[in-house]
Amino acid sequence: MLDTSPSRTTMAGLADDLSLALDTAWGHLMRGAADRRSGFHTIGLGTTGLDGTPQLRTVVLRRTDREQRELFLHTDIRARKIPEILAKPEVGVLGYCQDSKTQLRLSGVATIHHDDGIARAAWERAQEMSRRCYRVPIAPGSAIERPTDEPEALPVPGDPNAGFEAFAVVRVTIHRLEWLYLAITGHRRARYEWRDGALTATWLVP
Ligand SMILES: Cc1cc2nc3c(=O)[nH]c(=O)nc-3n(C[C@H](O)[C@H](O)[C@H](O)COP(=O)(O)O)c2cc1C
Repeated sequence: MLDTSPSRTTMAGLADDLSLALDTAWGHLMRGAADRRSGFHTIGLGTTGLDGTPQLRTVVLRRTDREQRELFLHTDIRARKIPEILAKPEVGVLGYCQDSKTQLRLSGVATIHHDDGIARAAWERAQEMSRRCYRVPIAPGSAIERPTDEPEALPVPGDPNAGFEAFAVVRVTIHRLEWLYLAITGHRRARYEWRDGALTATWLVP
């Protein structure tokens, strides 16, 4: 029986249209930032360790700006990823969404925003629960003798700015996007690259 559900017909069209596939990929990244139930709400961020080894961790995708090809993440300025990014700003981003059967594999250049306008605007938008993470007095990743159930944040009643000094925004400007869509009828894979503002796109063997 012919499946005429909207998602099926959309995917059928998308499967052979490079530009539509790119729209869909950015749509996933926009939704990932806006909807915590999206498979792209949490993504993998890859950096190069100071010892040259690959380093991966899960982070929340906070904002996507398609126009500028930018992704925004939040982190602690004391985190290990910060000196790694400063030493080598080239990063990888990976996401997979079970619902849409889509993998997105991105390459970009990361910039750290600390105690500037971008950090301030993101801090203003952050919920109190998120801000608390940045009030931990000891740097994340520090070795401790044993786990503690102490409140992870020192309460600073009435000071919404407490923790801001540890808060950082990582802005990733994307220059390569690889879209892989898994379908019973035939997988589809495409690569998009931006160089000097010009986009080149090509299908790849999945
Ligand atoms: C579901 C999930 C979401 C996470 N979100 C973030 C995040 O938005 N920012 C962040 O810095 N770490 C986040 N983490 C923790 C990181 O995976 C990582 O442990 C931490 O950032 C330290 O990494 P680093 O030592 O390489 O800097 C998250 C972990 C999980 C499991």
